[in-house]
Amino acid sequence: MMTDKIVENTKKLLEKHNQNHLLTFWDQLDTTQRRNLLAQIGRLDFPEIDDWVANFVRVPASAQIKADFVPVRSYAPVPADAEQELKYDRAVELGAELISSGKVAAFVVAGGQGTRLGFDGPKGNFPISPVKGKTLFQIFAETIAAVSEKYHARCPWYVMTSPLNHTETIEIFRSNDYYGLDEEDVFLFQQGTLPNFSFDGKILLADKAEIACSPDGHGGSLNALYQSGALDDMKRRGADFISYWQVDNSLINIFDPLFIGLHALDKAEMSSKAVIKSDPYEKVGNFCLLDGRVTVIEYSDLPDDLARKRCADGSLNFELGSIAIHIINRAFVERLNTGGFSLPLHKAVKKIPYIDEEGSLVEPAEPNGVKLESFVFDALPLASKSIILQTLRSQEFAPAKNATGVDGVEAAKQMIVARAAEWLESAGVSVPRKPDGSADCLIEIAPGFALRKDDIKAKLNRIPQINSGDEIYLV
Ligand code: UTP
Repeated sequence: MMTDKIVENTKKLLEKHNQNHLLTFWDQLDTTQRRNLLAQIGRLDFPEIDDWVANFVRVPASAQIKADFVPVRSYAPVPADAEQELKYDRAVELGAELISSGKVAAFVVAGGQGTRLGFDGPKGNFPISPVKGKTLFQIFAETIAAVSEKYHARCPWYVMTSPLNHTETIEIFRSNDYYGLDEEDVFLFQQGTLPNFSFDGKILLADKAEIACSPDGHGGSLNALYQSGALDDMKRRGADFISYWQVDNSLINIFDPLFIGLHALDKAEMSSKAVIKSDPYEKVGNFCLLDGRVTVIEYSDLPDDLARKRCADGSLNFELGSIAIHIINRAFVERLNTGGFSLPLHKAVKKIPYIDEEGSLVEPAEPNGVKLESFVFDALPLASKSIILQTLRSQEFAPAKNATGVDGVEAAKQMIVARAAEWLESAGVSVPRKPDGSADCLIEIAPGFALRKDDIKAKLNRIPQINSGDEIYLV
């Protein structure tokens, strides 16, 4: 119940923490709006917010970075010697066993705002496949269905959304009949949010009775898995390993026996895939060791001289770029949550629409405030052990982050075609090429046709001759 006393106490609390502007429009609000606003304020932890303002909002991001990090070892995409070959073979076998016995859960984080893509709706609903225009969600669902069939397993799929896109995402799954998956095997849940701030540390209002908030970052997934009951659901099903990826990666290999097997053989708690960076300043996180722990340093925090530094063989000193693909032990996430953990917050300076003192909506043309978020890779140093497996970008990483250009939609589509062409050629199929070497046709391989290169050989009789300009869909 909203008593005068509660309102009075809220005013005092806000004054104490320098956030009394949140009640600027109180007199103009109706009872429901007042109740909603009080509820939002009630969910905020003001001493914690004071701490964020002092330590993140008002200080430059780089002030938080330690500089004594060194390069880290990783597994190469192919074994380096006979001994390692044996290990990789054992890993593939173990990984396959774990998938078959239902011990691996798929987990995509899809709670982001997708501002760079500029697509109307959840990013996962973006049509990306080059021939059929399948959405990212559909490609993932078909991959999970194909893996379930191949390994005779029931593979659950966890999808993290945020309050910004949860209802819409559920509607998309419903209207697509869960893409043919059993609804019981798809678990959608929401991550938390954090308030947005002006540069001087004031919480911004999105409306007269609404605090401006944004999702708490992909790092919020580790808490949301716990809070939502997703971890309990995994436990009930006997799923011990979580295969984590980002919703915009159109080439993701969700269930990779080698990666899962190496992670399990080495008794790691959280592991990662990496690609060799395309240039010293590529905008990906850098794997390194900090105090003996695997850590990711953001590209913007890697000093230029270290980014450029090369080894005797010419390779970059910090050559391992993060592509946000992880295997995470369910027990590790449980341990973090029951032990009381918090990931560091990162600040992002953004254009944030807000309501000014007159009550008018301002759509800023320039960045005007700060969003705070946590990153999932910041959990790596908390893991007792962490391995890194290098992979080839062309096989597993084609993010559709931007509408155009680098990491754009067209680039992702081209990579889907390029991988398909390469898989076919490796099985002896002839693919027409343009003078620049790219495929002179569109090819799309459905996950049910082939999950990996090696699956193509058994299907050669179903592959037509491919001519220049053809659009080929293999299903
Ligand atoms: P990005 O950092 O690319 O952010 O997220 P974004 O929100 O998708 O896009 P921009 O920056 O606004 O253009 C990488 C992955 O992490 C997920 C995204 O959905 C994407 O899969 N993510 C990000 C979350 O699930 N929650 C978040 O709070 C942030």
